[in-house]
Amino acid sequence: MRSVYLDYAATTPLDPEVFDVMKKYFLEIFGNASSIHKYGQSARASLEESRMKIASLITAKPGELFFVSGGTEADNFAIKGAAMHAAKSGKNHIITSEIEHHAVLDCCKYLEEKGFEVTYLKVDKSGILNPHQVEEAIKPNTGLISIMFVNNELGIINPIKEISEITRKYKIIFHTDAVQALGKVEINVEELNVDLLSLSAHKIYGPKGIGAIYIKSGTDLEKLIHGGGQERGKRAGTENVPLAVGFAKAAENVIKNLTSENQRLSNLKSYFQRKISDLFPFVLFNGSDSKCVPHILNVSFNSSKINIDGEALLLNLDLEGVAVSSGSACTSGSLQPSHVILGIGRDLETAKATIRFSFGKYTNSDDLDYTLEVLQKVVKRIGKIL
Ligand SMILES: Cc1ncc(COP(=O)(O)O)c(C=O)c1O
Repeated sequence: MRSVYLDYAATTPLDPEVFDVMKKYFLEIFGNASSIHKYGQSARASLEESRMKIASLITAKPGELFFVSGGTEADNFAIKGAAMHAAKSGKNHIITSEIEHHAVLDCCKYLEEKGFEVTYLKVDKSGILNPHQVEEAIKPNTGLISIMFVNNELGIINPIKEISEITRKYKIIFHTDAVQALGKVEINVEELNVDLLSLSAHKIYGPKGIGAIYIKSGTDLEKLIHGGGQERGKRAGTENVPLAVGFAKAAENVIKNLTSENQRLSNLKSYFQRKISDLFPFVLFNGSDSKCVPHILNVSFNSSKINIDGEALLLNLDLEGVAVSSGSACTSGSLQPSHVILGIGRDLETAKATIRFSFGKYTNSDDLDYTLEVLQKVVKRIGKIL
């Protein structure tokens, strides 16, 4: 049976070239980057070189980039760290959007329990946030605004530069989760004018377990992890040099190929979308056609036209070798519809019958034709047209 992986927004396979450059840092250059001897110093040199490469790819200074364990930690550090610092001067109000990743939303919920006030902004029908809403939500005690760059379920791109202009006017710390943006849209922190930005390696064919946070110089955060003085005192713990080297190589590769790969993926997506709307007239496309990354296509089966169980759909596609994501989470045995799909106004049943297809560098048109074939078979088997 054919195997088709269409879940690149969840994670990507490691680039073999990345694996090759990482190997010697596990086996030969294994020193602790904080050690003074030559083993430590060669590890340190490679760590700093990796920092420099990633920083230059987003137009940051090397001293503004800090390695962490992934996007989740970067988001936690940015939100809890900035909120706790701002609260020292009485600014305990946070603004975010309803459709952020749980790494952001759950930090905000945690902070609410600790006495912070959070405004969760609604997005429009395509999932994009209107910058005016941000301005309207600002209060005298707003200390932090966190709005994602690219949404992981819909692929929409938020107007980060416009939002940052507002945050500059009111001198409020601005964080953006750019985990899904890296390698898909240009990230230039100077132009975007953000204070904090989260990145992760495993979405760009790099290793799992490493990410980075950009902290604009002069931005103060409370630290979350205490211990040694690594990462210039901001994030304790022995540095993971092999993963940092892999992250830098992966970032270099995706950014080098960004334009051509985006064009290729965009062609594949248009083809797939056209075929889906021809074959399944009861499908609704979620997101935006123009302001979106080229590799994510989110579709819902309209509950007023077809009765189909989202979980069964996903499992049946998997049985036929096609791996996609539902965006729903299984909590206590029941399928919870995605907060993102509900956030753009879909009804509960439609939200439950939603699939995210996400493409990547090994996706080709044969994969998509096979997926369409399987989808037709499965929908016919388990769907009931109303
Ligand atoms: C938008 C977004 N933020 C944060 C994360 C978390 O990143 P990580 O898996 O590196 O912890 C993800 C991963 O799915 C994501 O898509």
